[in-house]
Amino acid sequence: MEHLDMFDKLNKKNQEAELAGGADKIAKRKEKGLMTARERIEFFLDEGTFQEVDKFVIHRCSDFDLDKTQIPGDAVITGYGKVDGRPVYVFAQDFTVLGGSLSKVCSEKICKIMDLALAHGCPVVGLNDSGGARIQEGIDSLAGYGEIFWRNTKSSGVVPQISAILGPCAGGAVYSPAITDFIFMMKANSYMFVTGPEVIKAVTMEEVTMDDLGGASAHTAKSGVVHFVADNEKHCLLMIRELLSFIPSNNRETPPLYKTKDPVNRKVKKIEDLIPANPKLPYDIKDLINEVVDDNYFFEVQSNYAQNIVIGFARMGGRPVGIIANQPNYLAGCIDISASFKSSRFVRFCDAFNIPLVSFVDVPGFLPGTDQEYSGIIKHGAKLMYAYAEATVPKITVITRKAYGGAYIVMSSKHLRSDFNFAYPNAEIAVMGSEGAVNILYRNEMKKSANPEETRKQKLGEYNDKFANPYVAASKGYIDEVIYPEDTRQKICAALDFAMNKREFTPPRKHGNIPL
Ligand code: HXC
Repeated sequence: MEHLDMFDKLNKKNQEAELAGGADKIAKRKEKGLMTARERIEFFLDEGTFQEVDKFVIHRCSDFDLDKTQIPGDAVITGYGKVDGRPVYVFAQDFTVLGGSLSKVCSEKICKIMDLALAHGCPVVGLNDSGGARIQEGIDSLAGYGEIFWRNTKSSGVVPQISAILGPCAGGAVYSPAITDFIFMMKANSYMFVTGPEVIKAVTMEEVTMDDLGGASAHTAKSGVVHFVADNEKHCLLMIRELLSFIPSNNRETPPLYKTKDPVNRKVKKIEDLIPANPKLPYDIKDLINEVVDDNYFFEVQSNYAQNIVIGFARMGGRPVGIIANQPNYLAGCIDISASFKSSRFVRFCDAFNIPLVSFVDVPGFLPGTDQEYSGIIKHGAKLMYAYAEATVPKITVITRKAYGGAYIVMSSKHLRSDFNFAYPNAEIAVMGSEGAVNILYRNEMKKSANPEETRKQKLGEYNDKFANPYVAASKGYIDEVIYPEDTRQKICAALDFAMNKREFTPPRKHGNIPL
């Protein structure tokens, strides 16, 4: 009998915690077509693997009568479970409890699983849905955020950290995701901002809608804060599972291998037709990537931001790789500030987690102009240089067409210690394109000439013959091999095979000083 009472009490407590903010609030979510925080976790993890931690923790605040609203578990559900059989720590903020706002005990719950994840070498996935610092708790809530940010920073590069924005997230609720490796949003019902439209209006008189300020399109296309956008919650959670399939559980592991039926020696005939004979014409580098990778499958990251550079994950011979590629279809593939920011962070993520880098190069240079110069292309462009130079994972480079000037050096050149550098026979590797070079070198000669246009054409021809090819670079060993485009997959897979046990040593230091 006593036992029955005991179990009855536990059942009641469990039910109370699972009802969270109450039936009304849950019904409100359902009207919007949204899952509860608990349902999100259950859907995200392998079935039946979720183990909850701290289900009965309650907040300790009595200001503003808050002691009358004490819900077991408070506004976040925390615990661990599996994704494709691999362990993951997870938390989901519960908007039904005081808008998912962060109390001190919420932060303690999140910090507890972050500490466990770090100790056990597992990823942390945060499903954010929170109005930020719990206003009633004041400085205690800020202290809680500080503790989370500190752990985000300490865990960075040690265990993967992934954030989903699954509701209106404000203040501290966006700064923790900002320190994590990847951020997901939904097309609707997801918002991120440091200060909301009302505060903005009060301070600056500017009027802006929630969507324009902090919706998915603002953060995927304009700010570059967000990496992936999903159609809805379920799609988002499935995408996170997929992302995890490309990355190891921590920085001491290698990424998971997958069996593939796609032969490593598969010829990729189509590439020859993809790249136009006229070097001024664009083409879609994603077509080339899709041709080359296992099962023609490329998992693109930040597809709507800085489209002049393409980044994402794929597998080659079953091994996950990070791909970075200039996109001739957009701004002719020039590197600008946004492209550098986007790709350098990706290179650093891959390097931190032992994911080899495969770079496809077709770049006429850095984007010229006062806008770029005044905004600091010098320091921001240097980020990508730094990231590639710093990376010690296997680095494989294929120059598909243009590689000019500083951008040639930046894009995983031999000089930044790339392991294998290939070029197609049509590659043009030089300080600058022929037009610019001829205008500078032969300005006086053209002025003096009886037929300046004829002289220009002649000099262009001479320059192109001499420099617009891969053989000068190959003759100096800066290119290891000039390859037939159809052999691209085979060459990369073989190179990866040999570079897998790469070791590189860097002198001891506290940390470098990347131009941020
Ligand atoms: C306490 C909060 C809350 C908060 C929302 N609620 N945010 N309670 N602290 N920060 C409560 C509401 O009072 C409400 O309670 C319930 O959650 C749902 O909120 P609604 O406003 O009804 O929902 P909605 O209309 O969907 O709007 C969601 C919202 C809005 C956009 C998030 O609530 C909002 O703007 N909240 C404040 C955001 C904010 O400025 N946070 C502080 C940021 S500063 P009831 O009982 O009515 O259901 C910060 C400091 C750290 O985080 C910074 C570190 C860098």
